[in-house]
Amino acid sequence: MKHSELKKLKFRAVSIETIHFFFVIVILAGCAFNSTVESAIGQETHTNKLVIYTDRGKETISRNIYGHFSEHLGRCVYEGFWVGEDSPIPNTRGIRNDVVEALKKIKIPVLRWPGGCFADEYHWKEGIGPRQNRPAMLNTHWGMVKETNAFGTHEFLDLCEQLDCDAYIAGNVGSGTVEEMQDWVEYMTFDGDSDMANLRRANGRDKPWRVKYFGVGNENWGCGGNMTAEYYSDLYNRFQTYVRSYSGNRIVKVACGPGSVNYHWMTVVMERCHQRMDAISLHHYVRGSGDWTIKGSATKFDEKEWFALMKNTLTIYPLLKDNIEIMDKIDPQGRVDLFVDEWGTWWDAEPGTNPAFLYQQNTLRDAVSCGIFLNAFNKHCRRVKMANIAQTNNVLQAMILTKGEKMILTPTYHVFEMYKVHQDATLLQVDLDCGDYKFGDEKVPSFDVSSSKDKSGKIHISLCNLDPSNPTDVSCKLLGTEPANVSGRVLTADDMTAHNTFDEPETIKPAVFSDFSLNGDMLAVKLPAKSVVVLEIK
Ligand code: AHR
Repeated sequence: MKHSELKKLKFRAVSIETIHFFFVIVILAGCAFNSTVESAIGQETHTNKLVIYTDRGKETISRNIYGHFSEHLGRCVYEGFWVGEDSPIPNTRGIRNDVVEALKKIKIPVLRWPGGCFADEYHWKEGIGPRQNRPAMLNTHWGMVKETNAFGTHEFLDLCEQLDCDAYIAGNVGSGTVEEMQDWVEYMTFDGDSDMANLRRANGRDKPWRVKYFGVGNENWGCGGNMTAEYYSDLYNRFQTYVRSYSGNRIVKVACGPGSVNYHWMTVVMERCHQRMDAISLHHYVRGSGDWTIKGSATKFDEKEWFALMKNTLTIYPLLKDNIEIMDKIDPQGRVDLFVDEWGTWWDAEPGTNPAFLYQQNTLRDAVSCGIFLNAFNKHCRRVKMANIAQTNNVLQAMILTKGEKMILTPTYHVFEMYKVHQDATLLQVDLDCGDYKFGDEKVPSFDVSSSKDKSGKIHISLCNLDPSNPTDVSCKLLGTEPANVSGRVLTADDMTAHNTFDEPETIKPAVFSDFSLNGDMLAVKLPAKSVVVLEIK
């Protein structure tokens, strides 16, 4: 079913009263769509038709959609970022250089920290001052392991400066106090003479940092305190009062939103708090089965699980649409942003590793899923102003895996690298009429797409072929431009379980893509099976 056809159906359905009339309208809507597409692309008979309106763009794709999330969980922060100043692994003030360099190459725009569930049991004052004096704590969410607090506020904000990215800090509502939260913001951002600012100076940092984003709690419907939406709303309104913008640091306040489908939570928190927030979060994790309790292996799967992940990934579309509809009703001016500040795939931990550390491998399947998520965020960039994949290193759908001094880049990293061209570009409207990828008696659209135009006028199209066995032909009309040059890159492999290992770190990486032809404003593309392709049009 065509995406735009679905939209038209919904629009018309509200204004008619009889079933009969409804069906007439459906047929008309279908014809109207087909004639739009066909008049745009002539009498082409390709299965897959795409129209890109190269001169119809008004929304900007925030660079923060390409954001990241790092928690004190397993080996994400420790080993992933923090190796300590005395480590033989090359580092700058304890932070490993190879990881920083790799993340700068994908233009990491923003990093969320310290959790996750960890955020609501983190007491920041234990993570400042001389490291040898910092008390240890128990990380109760993630394996009951000892948290040394060696990596704290100063180290995190140093990391953000090394990465040249914005800081997004999640505060503790679940087990923390209002005073503690207020002190933290003052400690980091106040330039004047105050106890907290002077404590920061005593700990070696004279000038305040710029902390742009502050989350008031995390998953407070679950690990962050098991609250009702009504109770959290009251707490949000109270806590946020003391999250101040000091010394010209205009802080963006983020309320805790729902996890996947919880429209009650979104409605209540928006209704009760929207005037006191700048953004609200949404979390969405996906896996290779319809059953949340069965995660499955990251690397050993068959087409049934491949298909299930594609189907589950596509749920991001209705999830965004429905949450945005709620937001639009309560905040019609569109003042409050939606931050999808945790998302990604979640598999069984790699055999032989601590299951609580959530260390998983990452295959071509994760890469295609990632491409679909990012396309969906791009296409909803009117409201979605940030997204943070979980998590940066060694945890869940990681960009980077480390083993001692070794570091490898995952297929998901490569998708972020290929898609970075969309950061801060103008979203272009697309009409898509695509065939199905069928498995058993189920089907999903065979490919997914988004497109943007950057400030220099270059157009980028990111395409994902969801079908693991069949290449697909796409006939694309570039309405409003007659391009002179097209180039492309592709991420694919022969095997759907292809992934990089420490012994074979380059099994899967982007390659030059040239299976397309340009004729005037018509671009014919043959997408390889199970692939992510990014085309650049000049
Ligand atoms: O990313 C892992 C966990 O998933 C986070 O700590 C939590 O917010 C979510 O449930």
